[in-house]
Amino acid sequence: MKTWRLGWSVLLIAGWAAAGEVWVADLGLANMTQGYGSPQKNQSVDKNPLKLAGQTYAHGVGTHAESLFELNLLGEADRFTAVVGVDDEVKGQPGSVEFKVTADGKEVFTSGLKKAGMEPSKVDVDLKGVKSLLLEVTDAGDGIDFDHADWVEAKITYHGAKPTAGPAHKEEAVILTPKPPATPRINGTRITGVRPGREFLYTVAATGERPMTFAAEKLPAGLKLDPNSGIITGSVTDRSHRTYEVLLKASNARGKAERVLKIVVGDKIALTPPMGWNSWNCFAHAVSAEKVQAAAKAMVESGLIQHGWSYINIDDFWEVHKDSKDPTLQGPHRGADGHIIPNPRFPNMKGLTAYVHGLGLKIGLYSSPGPWTCGECVASFDHEELDAQDYAAWGFDYLKYDWCSYRPNMEKTRTRPVSCAAMAKFEKDGAPAKLLDQMRPYAIMRAALDKQNRDILFSFCQYGMGDVWKWGEALGGNCWRTTGDITDTWGSMAGIGFGQAGHELYAGPGHWNDPDMLVVGQVGWGHLHPSRLTPNEQYTHISLWCLLCSPLLIGCDMTQFDDFTLGLLTNDEVLEVNQDPLGQQAGRVSKEGNLEVWAKKMEDGSLAVGLFNRGVIANRVTAKWSDLGLTGKQRVRDLWRQTDIGAFDGRFEASVPRHGVLLVRLWPTR
Ligand code: GAL
Repeated sequence: MKTWRLGWSVLLIAGWAAAGEVWVADLGLANMTQGYGSPQKNQSVDKNPLKLAGQTYAHGVGTHAESLFELNLLGEADRFTAVVGVDDEVKGQPGSVEFKVTADGKEVFTSGLKKAGMEPSKVDVDLKGVKSLLLEVTDAGDGIDFDHADWVEAKITYHGAKPTAGPAHKEEAVILTPKPPATPRINGTRITGVRPGREFLYTVAATGERPMTFAAEKLPAGLKLDPNSGIITGSVTDRSHRTYEVLLKASNARGKAERVLKIVVGDKIALTPPMGWNSWNCFAHAVSAEKVQAAAKAMVESGLIQHGWSYINIDDFWEVHKDSKDPTLQGPHRGADGHIIPNPRFPNMKGLTAYVHGLGLKIGLYSSPGPWTCGECVASFDHEELDAQDYAAWGFDYLKYDWCSYRPNMEKTRTRPVSCAAMAKFEKDGAPAKLLDQMRPYAIMRAALDKQNRDILFSFCQYGMGDVWKWGEALGGNCWRTTGDITDTWGSMAGIGFGQAGHELYAGPGHWNDPDMLVVGQVGWGHLHPSRLTPNEQYTHISLWCLLCSPLLIGCDMTQFDDFTLGLLTNDEVLEVNQDPLGQQAGRVSKEGNLEVWAKKMEDGSLAVGLFNRGVIANRVTAKWSDLGLTGKQRVRDLWRQTDIGAFDGRFEASVPRHGVLLVRLWPTR
């Protein structure tokens, strides 16, 4: 390194850098990932002046937990200094975070718990010889709400090359899921619910060499199975509510398989979490009937259907837009009779649902209780019953109902009568007016759907308002979003996923917490890119969503699957954790710093256990029998690799990569 000193200044010679210092805010903040908003230079995440405990700072980075910034130092930096704390803009709010600095895999600074108003902490870290520096803000274990974190006056001094942003390490995308055998194997849910007389559709999900022949014994009267496709259709004529144990059979040139499917004829559907695809995270405003058809075709051709994936859900933008310049979003909103008219991209809804059903898949639609959807397209206010009639007549099986433009005072302007029967109990019990206001639009659509002669899965989307998990089931919701929208960053995914602790009390067969859709594969809300989650983060995402009994809605363009993404979505032992008939959502059983163990009981008495490392350094995670409520020797099986690890007593411990998981299942050995 050659430098010439000229008084105070330092000269840079082409390609060579000289001693200097750099604000962290000037190091390519686009590479910083965080759980909400975007990283800000010299201002807070909400774009106010940086302010910690009453003092304003000119320089720094405003971010939001969970936040991660990786820097390459090449061993040529000297010191990292900063002052850290929670920005005063969230004073009085419950946000709490912890700042961490990791140098070459060693934690060299932790701030301890920080809340707004608390005295900020000084960071001063020696960087001699350090190659990789990680600046991290965690949610301190209580979820990411109001976690507005500032690294003020953050700078690095260096003597050689200037630090650069970007991951110092590259993770290999290792496919863990073994290829299924050529012999038939029946996968997918083991239990399904249907109301008597309603249209039934179930595709026997089976891997193995084709051609394959299917059969079923003891099907309820009214249902028939197509031996070539394994698609069961019809409607159950028996009106008495009872459970049929149907023996499914699949055979090919290599062998045969059998498995029992319980068909529960009664008044409940969604007995296991829905598994499918939704257009939003990939296409957003650019969805069209062609793209939906292509997605359905891809679900079959990629083989996903053989693993139990079944819904193809259209999100926003099938309706006419309020004022778009795009002719394919224009047109009459409704006919003279009040019935909604889809936009020109969806000229034939009945044809579209018939196409999807013909492939053995189900199909879903989207609306909002206000006059406009979140994307400002025509929505259902004052037309709920007409809309429900149309969804049923077109042949839809799923409705996502997204709050957005609804305001309680609109109720005064209604012109058509509605029923709110589902919330009567809450009214009688004197629930607060605000809560009743949050329930009302969902109760209204519930009543409208109940009038239709079709099973339509009802998905509430109102981001968790009023602790929806506490009343979603009573209002007839089959699932309810517990959070705002997910994005494909560690901060967002981990903040949402690990923030679900405690919600397990409210989920069960027919009614599920929904921490939003999957962000693996080519995602991008209209501008596709590969998920920004690292391979290990993607394993964490799928493992956690399976443990959480979350609806699994693939958010990527399924016509562009890569082998890694397919591996993530086709591991039957992992998916079984999600689809287990007991329907018990996992809870957090232990947390030591960044290391967490989550567990859920399975129907056969075994336990599915996730050993998670939320930290940025590989670490050993321990699942203790005392935390899991276990005694005695347990057989431990690695679900991603589908191999037994061995028998353990008292505890099971394993090394888990950064942001990674080991997902296991434990059976008593006796
Ligand atoms: C959001 C919702 C997203 C998507 C979008 C459509 O409110 O959370 O999942 O449906 O609206 O505009």
